[in-house]
Amino acid sequence: MATTDDVMPVAVVTGAARGIGLASSQWFLARGYRVAMIDTDGAALCEAAAGLGDASRVLAIECDVSDEVQVAAMASQVAQQFGRIDALVNNAGVAVFKPLLETTFQEWRYVFATNLDGAFLCTQFCAPVMLRNGGGSIVNIASISGLRASSLRVAYGTSKAALIHLTKQQAMELGNQGIRVNAVSPGPVDTAMAKLVHTPAIRADYHDAIPLNRYGTPQEIAEAIGFLCSPAASYINGQMLAADGGFDAAGIGLPTLRR
Ligand SMILES: NC(=O)c1ccc[n+]([C@@H]2O[C@H](COP(=O)([O-])OP(=O)(O)OC[C@H]3O[C@@H](n4cnc5c(N)ncnc54)[C@H](O)[C@@H]3O)[C@@H](O)[C@H]2O)c1
Repeated sequence: MATTDDVMPVAVVTGAARGIGLASSQWFLARGYRVAMIDTDGAALCEAAAGLGDASRVLAIECDVSDEVQVAAMASQVAQQFGRIDALVNNAGVAVFKPLLETTFQEWRYVFATNLDGAFLCTQFCAPVMLRNGGGSIVNIASISGLRASSLRVAYGTSKAALIHLTKQQAMELGNQGIRVNAVSPGPVDTAMAKLVHTPAIRADYHDAIPLNRYGTPQEIAEAIGFLCSPAASYINGQMLAADGGFDAAGIGLPTLRR
């Protein structure tokens, strides 16, 4: 006989120790999901999970999403402890911002390993668990840098552009099995990642270029992710939703014309 736990939906969120991943975990918990929080930073992950204050509905798993063996073990642990997966948020990401000719092959591979291989691997191992209960929803966290080329982002931007195309490939093949796959492309969001690479001058430039004239918050990105995972998005598959304050829409946005 099914217990309440068996039917309580389960979300797997990667890069969940902080930022957009942590806000997404909170979004799912607030809506009755159980959440498997995945991150390489074990200490930060434990602290974040403990801070959510609902130990019975949270499973924190230290796992590197770019490592096939670790991802396989993670998916089977979630299946064993929670019995199902309904939503997967491929959010873990890293950035190396450097001039093109100074970017080493190791840096290129490091960025692709997490941002692209990670989403591929987590989907390969979580989707079969989703299918046991008829399907679910996957959201890949890309970036506005995957839509618009910009300085210093040869590895990061290219990995995110590839992730947007991976989303379409996954949506095509998994859609007819019951799994919808979409992407969210955040513009600049106030998180540790942004603090690492955005100087005050860069922040001012972003404010100038974004029609809403500000950074987004992790919670605003979590709302877009949550929507795509929810039944309200039941006919949305293979799409990329930019949550970016209008940054992408602004196109060339000549400063002189804006003022
Ligand atoms: N913050 C922004 O301005 C912004 C803009 C566009 C897109 N994004 C994307 O949103 C996602 C989250 O960004 P954030 O700003 O919250 O980042 P963040 O750096 O604050 O958090 C990322 C988390 O991912 C974890 N992580 C990194 N590599 C991992 C791996 N191999 N396996 C498991 N976990 C790993 C980190 O430990 C960290 O906890 C990323 O994919 C990022 O590229 C962020």
